[in-house]
Parts: sequence; C-alpha cells; structure tokens
Amino acid sequence: MAAPARIAIFPGSFDPPTNGHLDLIDRAARLHDRVVVGVLRNTGKHPFFSVDDRVAMLKEMFANRPEIEVVTFDGLLVDFARAARASVVVRGVRSAADLEYERQMALTNRHLDPSVETMLLLPSAEVGHVSSTLVREIASLGGSVRGLVPASVESWIVNRPRAAGVQKV
Ligand code: PNS
Repeated sequence: MAAPARIAIFPGSFDPPTNGHLDLIDRAARLHDRVVVGVLRNTGKHPFFSVDDRVAMLKEMFANRPEIEVVTFDGLLVDFARAARASVVVRGVRSAADLEYERQMALTNRHLDPSVETMLLLPSAEVGHVSSTLVREIASLGGSVRGLVPASVESWIVNRPRAAGVQKV
C-alpha cells in the first residue's frame, strides 16, 4: 500500500507575498508531497491588497508548481489543517522575536489539536530581513521593492491604485 501523501499547510496573511515566503514555501515543498498555501480571510480592515489579489499573486508565483496549491481560509488554523488533510503547519522564523510569537502559536495550536505538528523553518540568509510590513511601508512611501518580492508581485505593487493625494516623486 502506498504511503499517505505528506501534506503541509503554509498559512499567512501574504499582504503582499514576498521573496521570504517564496523561499520558505520552496523549502516546505522539498519536505512534503503537497503544500497548501492558506491566505487568511479575516485580516485587518485596511489591507494593502484584497484577499483575492493576494491569492492571484500567489497563484502566479506557483503557476508551474502543481504540488503547491493556493486557497483561502478563515476560522481556526487547526480546522483549516484538518480540512486540507495536513498534519504539518509550516511557518518561518527570521528572528528571536518571530520565534517567541511562533512558539506561542504552535503550542496553542497543539493544545487545540495535538495531531497537528508545527514545523519552523529558517529562510535563506539573503531574505532573512524581508517582511510584508516593510514592503508595504516602502511601497506606500514610493520606494522600490525590487529584490524583496518576486517580479510578478512587484508589478502588482507598481500598478496598485494609489490613494488620492499621494504622489510619486
Ligand atoms: O502571516 P501572519 O499574519 O503572521 O499569519 C498569521 C496566521 C494566519 C498564521 C494566524 O493569524 C492564524 O493562524 N490565524 C488563524 C486563527 C487561529 O487559529 N488562532 C488560534 C491559534 S494561534
């Protein structure tokens, strides 16, 4: 009998997806048969990109990767993991601050469902400083995000409608 497929979920806000996410999802895909990238639906009130746009960006990034699926989810992460038939949640850790946040989240998820294991991965050193928050800040101040996000996401950012009164200098 064939071994069951090793399925992992990679959840997040992805507002927007970055080269850090790309690096980590690649690493997760090397360790699993399938990776389900889950975009959280109920994020803050003023997202930089809509959930649908973020899903479109991620689908573009992984268009040639049949083992990587992009979906949305809301509610509890452990319920999403169960629905995706995943036994592993993959998250990235860039710093000690990330580790403390991830430790708390992983132990809470284990409390909610002991069958779901969290796997924490380190990104490559080249993207260890990249965050969606800083990408949003740079983009909203008119700076270049080249090298921080995939080229396809950079196009989304460059073509994003700007708020009235904000002009590029
Ligand atoms: O990219 P982010 O914003 O760091 O991702 C955070 C995310 C989506 C992984 C986290 O907010 C989450 O798991 N939300 C689902 C709600 C949940 O299950 N909460 C209780 C367990 S910590």
